[in-house]
Amino acid sequence: APGMAVAGERRGHPAGPEPGPGRGEEPFSPSVLGTREHWDAAYERELQTFQDIGDAGEIWFGEESMVRIIRWLEKQKVPLDSSVLDIGTGNGVLLIELAKSGYVNLTGIDYSPSAIQLSEKVREKEGMSNIKLKVEDFLAPSAELSGFEICIDKGTFDAISLNPDNAVGKRKQYVRSLCSALKPEGFFLITSCNWTKEELLNEFREGFEILEELPTPKFCFGGRIGNSVTALVFQRKKGTSFCNLSAGSFFLR
Ligand SMILES: C[S@@+](CC[C@H](N)C(=O)[O-])C[C@H]1O[C@@H](n2cnc3c(N)ncnc32)[C@H](O)[C@@H]1O
Repeated sequence: APGMAVAGERRGHPAGPEPGPGRGEEPFSPSVLGTREHWDAAYERELQTFQDIGDAGEIWFGEESMVRIIRWLEKQKVPLDSSVLDIGTGNGVLLIELAKSGYVNLTGIDYSPSAIQLSEKVREKEGMSNIKLKVEDFLAPSAELSGFEICIDKGTFDAISLNPDNAVGKRKQYVRSLCSALKPEGFFLITSCNWTKEELLNEFREGFEILEELPTPKFCFGGRIGNSVTALVFQRKKGTSFCNLSAGSFFLR
């Protein structure tokens, strides 16, 4: 959809040789992609397009990124009634695909009201009324946003990382929010084009351990071979004190 052209430019562009996170540095230039205004405006346009031609719009990282996630859940024999949270659901298409695969306990949140409006319209069109959708900022989660067995992030941690205002603090808050949203031993599936596997391992090292790296397409550029997209599955560790720290002690770390 034309409205997402700016967002589209970023895809397929790896972070490159910039310094990674975890060293207290900002690895990316701040971008409008990190702001709510951007997403509100983008989904406002997508909403209009949906109303005009019934197109749900951008699927970040393409269809295959959804297939990859669903295949892993199936391989792992994750029960179909497991509670699943899609963090920054956008148009909610991933939840529709999960529902089509038989998952029945699905929730999507997004901080952009126009994204949630669009996802509601897509849900209605697909007749998937049992999917729960809510406007919510993952960095300031409500008390109900807890106890999920599966959390999925496709491009949202990337967007948050680009926030022009205190991205380092926002990434830390993301990990805290994830600790409270996900049950101990629950699975977290993240798809990112801004972070390498090593960087993500570092970002989520406290409280989470890696279970698996999911294969993603490789690119070859200037003699270097790499992945433009990284997809990892983490498991929340049991009894990690990290998740119980107060905000004050957290930021003093
Ligand atoms: C790159 S898009 C990905 C959308 C969707 N997950 C997909 O794969 O198509 C990033 C999404 O994250 C949402 N988002 C960014 N920051 C957020 C936050 N703090 N809380 C909730 N949603 C957020 C944006 O509104 C946007 O829908």
